[in-house]
Amino acid sequence: MKAVPYSGLRKMMLRADELGREGKPVIHLEIGRPDFDTPEHIKAAARRALDEGRVHYTSNYGVPEIRRAIAGKLRSENGLEFDENGEIAVTIGANEAVFLAMMAFLDEGDEVLVPDPSWLNYFYCITLAGGVPVSVPLRVGKGFRMDPDDVARLLTPRTRMMVVMSPHNPTGAVLDRDHLQALAALAQERDLLVLADEIYEKMVYDGAVHHSIGGLPGMRERTLLVNGFSKSYSMTGWRLGYVAAPRELIDVMIRVHQYTVMCPTSFAQYGAVAAYEGPQDCVQDMRREFARRRELILRRLQAMEGIDCPVPEGAFYAFPSVRRLGRSCREVAEHLLEDAYIATVPGSAFGEHGTGHVRLAYSNSYENIEEAMDRMETSLAKL
Ligand SMILES: Cc1ncc(COP(=O)(O)O)c(C=O)c1O
Repeated sequence: MKAVPYSGLRKMMLRADELGREGKPVIHLEIGRPDFDTPEHIKAAARRALDEGRVHYTSNYGVPEIRRAIAGKLRSENGLEFDENGEIAVTIGANEAVFLAMMAFLDEGDEVLVPDPSWLNYFYCITLAGGVPVSVPLRVGKGFRMDPDDVARLLTPRTRMMVVMSPHNPTGAVLDRDHLQALAALAQERDLLVLADEIYEKMVYDGAVHHSIGGLPGMRERTLLVNGFSKSYSMTGWRLGYVAAPRELIDVMIRVHQYTVMCPTSFAQYGAVAAYEGPQDCVQDMRREFARRRELILRRLQAMEGIDCPVPEGAFYAFPSVRRLGRSCREVAEHLLEDAYIATVPGSAFGEHGTGHVRLAYSNSYENIEEAMDRMETSLAKL
């Protein structure tokens, strides 16, 4: 466990909460969760399930209704065919799906290529499973897209899996089809599994389009498609996600799931059925609001002295470089929190190659972001 430190992001959250309890007007831009309430028709469906007594263990794979809804969504929105009986497992958030993948497929010392910076959980789920995360550097000059040449250079006989995340947390990069194709070719050549994390698929802007790497020729048999309800439907606390993959792969993952969590919360699963089968305007409304906030935060950051802010095409994060301020990203993040009560996350918390950047989540209200940008401008001038 010494190899698995306490999360840097959680540390920022704890300090921000502490300041909040002291009565300081903290603006939270550190946490990656939509600030909206879960849409009413989804809550109503979960309430109904509770009232109908759907309070028991469910199938390890999830209730048939949710698997049918997921198969329908993957077919109609992503053009992917999965059998709802055996090729889909419903998990405790996308996070559990990532954990299952690592526990199920890694032997001691197996290597997994992970874009760096990244959502930290990949690195530590790999470590917990006895595997070795291998950082693939993302460079601002390459639009923070995982460079196939870097991937090829880092492949070894122990490489077992590649993580592909698009849209990307924390950089907001979205991978186009050609790019995915180049990564897919390497995965096929070296017989790798690909964990495709598509949790931010609905949050794309400026005409960017989300593609599923699992839909490319020859990729179905090796892709673990991970997605969930947290971000698209503002359901982070419901803890519902899923993995879709060929039956042989799900068969292995379900055994880890069976002996750890058994099944996700029964009545929450019925809420998620309504998320996928009900009206989708709530998703579009949230996306539109994110787009509006994105315009604001980018415009303000790009005009700020000492800050260089690339344009993210997806997710809900800005990931500006703070190098020109002449301080480390940790110092900048700590200064912003202590001096201006703005909670952010230093890029180094997402991996070595995130150093020099700060992540700001625009999953907070337009007014709070506006206020945070005013405070940030004043506060950075003091550095
Ligand atoms: C890339 C990525 N995948 C998965 C998750 C977790 O999703 P869930 O809430 O479904 O576990 C996050 C949360 O921040 C994330 O950024």
